[in-house]
Amino acid sequence: MANECSACHMLYPAGLLPARSWSAMIADLANHFGDNAELDAATAKRVADYLTANSADGVGVSGKVLRGLDPALVPKRITELPWWTRKHKKKGRVGTVEFARKGAKFKGDCKACHADAERGIFDDD
Ligand code: HEC
Ligand code: HEC
Repeated sequence: MANECSACHMLYPAGLLPARSWSAMIADLANHFGDNAELDAATAKRVADYLTANSADGVGVSGKVLRGLDPALVPKRITELPWWTRKHKKKGRVGTVEFARKGAKFKGDCKACHADAERGIFDDD
């Protein structure tokens, strides 16, 4: 799990997306945000099983990750969730200055701003 999904970016905790998002993502890893992240079938199944079993449909990272999300939608990104937007809407939180200061490469580069992001801890700063 760690090796397969952390070669290009931080390892995202499963509790940050609903099971349906993980299923859709693993089903189409050859077209993963413009990259090919394809895995062999057995590994893909193992990763999908882990992610869906530990997804935000359970307790998730905060228990509130899916709040406000239309159940008909299948978000591709954590940063598309209304929960994520709520947490970062305050002016400057993920503005250009904050990004540059922390060296974040993209919105989903949680680890640049939250040192313990891979363990699902975000109240560090
Ligand atoms: C070959 C490189 C590569 C591999 C391997 C890879 N990813 Fe990605 N991933 C990307 C890129 C590129 C993006 C989009 C980054 C951006 O927005 O600039 C991305 C974005 C994501 C996002 C969205 C983050 C957000 O909210 O913006 C998630 C979730 C994700 N990947 C999960 C996974 C999982 C799970 C695996 C393992 C099955 C995986 N990735 C393996 C390249 C990769
Ligand atoms: C450019 C920096 C930056 C990036 C990238 C970033 N965040 Fe944040 N985040 C912040 C700041 C700043 C706060 C506000 C911290 C505070 O209130 O003390 C915050 C707050 C949060 C909170 C609320 C914490 C609390 O205690 O209420 C959560 C949850 C969170 N971020 C999750 C994420 C996740 C998940 C990602 C990646 C998908 C991410 N963040 C990416 C800067 C960032």
